[in-house]
Amino acid sequence: MTDRSKKPSSKRASRTSAKPSKANPLWGGRFAAGPAAVMERINASIGFDRRLYAQDIRASKAHAAMLAAEGIIAKPDAKAIAAGLDRIEAEIVAGKFEFKVALEDIHMNVEARLFELIGEPARRLHTARSRNDQVATDLKLWVRDAIDGIDAQIKALQAALIHRAEEHAALLMPGFTHMQAAQPITFGHHLLAYVEMLGRDRSRFADARKRMNEIPLGAAALAGTSFPIDRKATAKALGFDRPAANSLDAVSDRDFVVEFLAAASLCAVHLSRLGEEIVLWASPGMGFITLSDAYTTGSSIMPQKRNPDAAELARAKVGRIVGALTSLLIVLKGLPLAYAKDLQEDKEPLFDAADSLSLALAAMEGMIRDLRPNAERMRAAAEAGYSTATDLADWLVRRLSLPFRRAHEVTGKIVRLAEAKGCALADLPLDALRAIEPGIDRAVYDSLGIDSSVASRRSEGGTAPERVRAAANKARERFL
Ligand code: ARG
Repeated sequence: MTDRSKKPSSKRASRTSAKPSKANPLWGGRFAAGPAAVMERINASIGFDRRLYAQDIRASKAHAAMLAAEGIIAKPDAKAIAAGLDRIEAEIVAGKFEFKVALEDIHMNVEARLFELIGEPARRLHTARSRNDQVATDLKLWVRDAIDGIDAQIKALQAALIHRAEEHAALLMPGFTHMQAAQPITFGHHLLAYVEMLGRDRSRFADARKRMNEIPLGAAALAGTSFPIDRKATAKALGFDRPAANSLDAVSDRDFVVEFLAAASLCAVHLSRLGEEIVLWASPGMGFITLSDAYTTGSSIMPQKRNPDAAELARAKVGRIVGALTSLLIVLKGLPLAYAKDLQEDKEPLFDAADSLSLALAAMEGMIRDLRPNAERMRAAAEAGYSTATDLADWLVRRLSLPFRRAHEVTGKIVRLAEAKGCALADLPLDALRAIEPGIDRAVYDSLGIDSSVASRRSEGGTAPERVRAAANKARERFL
């Protein structure tokens, strides 16, 4: 296929270079003609940055109030601006606001509407400000809000996990290494492992939130402003700790978005691991859990199917979230100071990642609350695969004072014998055990059951039911 096989596209090209609208009224003084249609399309961000409306309005109100307090604009003008902005917010919330692509982005859409509503004073709002410090401020406010929402969702998932862990603190299941049954554990202990991961996720988000809490507003386009603004006042009004120290950095920094996406990526990785385990547990081969109709789907051809789609999607969302992180890192790489329109490409990946993580968290919480463990299946699997071999080796060390390596070898021989006979360790006759290690006596059988195995793992952070109950209590104190 060569380009020659296609029809000449000059017609389409000339169509896209038509002039659809006149010069933008908010910066059009220097422009005689409007942009090409394709220019408007590549340039406009209103399709997605409308999501910043609440933050944009909040920041504009703080800016106007500061300008009035410093005598840079008149107090009645600031009042009119605030009232107009409130009305715009109500219009947007009510779905009555007309977003215009010709006005590029949320900032100019709001400002243009403000002029329609209040006239002349609207033109004073942009004093000592640029869209560059404006968008950076709006976006930080948005990410901060997103972190608060995500934190609440992770906490809710932790609460569900802790609740189920307490309920199943003594429910036995196999613990795996290499996906091979390794040692018996409790289901509660397994669930609490995820509570720890999610706790670290929350602390990473909190850490990022703390670091990002410097306000860019007041950096203006890139160099600061000649007006006597009070950056501490806007910082305080918008809940920031302090003004960003360097104006060039303030308008071009998107580290905070990267950090959000990095924390989101790791959290999504954790959800994908839990999603994968739910898929495995719910598979007929394992049959450890059942998910209700609420969290499964059927098949249009195979009537017997009950598919764990939500768990699969929670497992898969990590793809787009890590994609968002990669995408933004590459946008930022090699970008010279200060603002460039490249930075507008930060928003879609951010919004998509935040939405995806939020949805995956909600689905995961629902599934954790919904799943029903099948105790018999879990127990049978825990008994299979010589899962108490380590307990036998430990018994040989404790009772016969064998060095652990020697006990390991003896146990290996016993497992080999059981395998050859096709029976469990506890079913081997005492004679057969004594033929391998003469010191063994009847008491050894106490070490071969899975209940005693699990009950004996009382070390800190271990799987013994009493430990799991205490850990769940502690987790409640630490995280909820
Ligand atoms: N829509 C723009 C963005 O998201 C706002 C900033 C535009 N600044 C500018 N100098 N053109 O980045």
